[in-house]
Amino acid sequence: MLTLSRRDILTGGAATLAAVAVGGYAGARAQAADLLLPVTETAHALRPDVVTGGMMTFGDRGPPPVLRLRQGQPYVVDVVNRLREATVVHWHGLRLANAMDGVPYLTQAPIEPGQRFRYTLTSPDAGTFWYHPHCNTLEQMARGLTGLLIVDEAEDPGFDVDLPLNIRDFRLGADGQFVEFYRLRNAARGGTLGTQSTVNWQTEPLHDLPAGGLVRLRLVMTDMTRVGTYDLEGGESRVIALDSHPLADPLPAAGLMLAPGQRADVALRIPDTEGQEVTLTLRTDRGPRLMARFRATGRSLGRALAELAPLPANPVAGPDLSRAETLDFVFGWSPEGDGAASGICGSLGKSFWSINRVAWDGDTPGPMDPLATLRLGGSYILRLRNETPNAHPIHLHGLSFRLLRSNRRALPPLVTDTALLLSQETMEVALVADNPGNWAFHCHVIEHQKTGLTGYLRVA
Ligand code: C2O
Ligand code: CU
Ligand code: CU
Repeated sequence: MLTLSRRDILTGGAATLAAVAVGGYAGARAQAADLLLPVTETAHALRPDVVTGGMMTFGDRGPPPVLRLRQGQPYVVDVVNRLREATVVHWHGLRLANAMDGVPYLTQAPIEPGQRFRYTLTSPDAGTFWYHPHCNTLEQMARGLTGLLIVDEAEDPGFDVDLPLNIRDFRLGADGQFVEFYRLRNAARGGTLGTQSTVNWQTEPLHDLPAGGLVRLRLVMTDMTRVGTYDLEGGESRVIALDSHPLADPLPAAGLMLAPGQRADVALRIPDTEGQEVTLTLRTDRGPRLMARFRATGRSLGRALAELAPLPANPVAGPDLSRAETLDFVFGWSPEGDGAASGICGSLGKSFWSINRVAWDGDTPGPMDPLATLRLGGSYILRLRNETPNAHPIHLHGLSFRLLRSNRRALPPLVTDTALLLSQETMEVALVADNPGNWAFHCHVIEHQKTGLTGYLRVA
């Protein structure tokens, strides 16, 4: 997969550059962006035998590029909307300045067709992140707009290969073309699953990797709906980070449950024998589904997982639990209503879900108040209660939180931005409200997000 680093220009060469320079920055001398990122329509062979039309991507063609930032250093991205509808780009998991967060109406106006928007991304944290639209989100993501973003550690952690894996489904019919992206009856339940599982827009890709080498697999769940359990078999491996935050104690990479929006960094040792394979599989009712294969090639490098030093912790402030204020959030049903909603950034026209008994009324925050206002610098415990029969990956923009406890299970000591809340689970998480602004707070099953399970927290 194409990987871009600083100063790469994605497409179009001179013509594109000129268009941006002429089009923008109102008289001021245009300063070059690190990356020009068009949002475009495309077609692609998701299955080897057929090209799917009506897709959307970042860049000119093919899967969205993997963006690579350096920890603490600004990276300037000019997003150019070449779609026939509005869009906006959100950088999932990055603790950015609020104005760069990419949420329509809450942090910026939608980017209309032909317009561009300049994002300056400066991440205090290293790790694995991703990016996606927050406008007409269900359809735009379903058509392909989910890309990966990596923030490299200041010091090279010592892997032989770094392999990002964009894991998601597409909803295709037997002819390989898109079918309806969701069904309303599913939106009121667990959400609508795709039909074709892919990794980096390929079906069951095979990766040749150095025998006896150490590989950093970055598993990123960019699907709209699927909560999956994954197994990695055939090589020694451990989970070294979840949702971009390093684990003090690595976990086994078997039975790894990952929900939409979540990520896992896995240190994998490729077998010594040429031709030997490691498989990544998804558990399904009908047995394991092959997702990707990793095959040993060449003479063994003879490396060992023990050679890897733990990844350095990210600079996330520790909440003062003795003085933290507790805020309650109840994720529940909503009496079925017709969502009023702005048509501009897309609504499914119904509400099924609510936070604290309020269903998000479309994308426009105009009449909507924040769910809570947090004092800048204050420590908070968020008590998240799921009273529904479905699981919800609850995602908070702009702030990372620590898992404290659950009424249903033991939780790993994790810092995250997306926590899977099981049915009837109450989970307490804690954070320091150290990033000012309006931060979206929603379920990452996009059908739920789009039918009420959305709100925002204000830090001021
Ligand atoms: Cu991936 Cu509002 O988030
Ligand atoms: Cu996000
Ligand atoms: Cu949900």
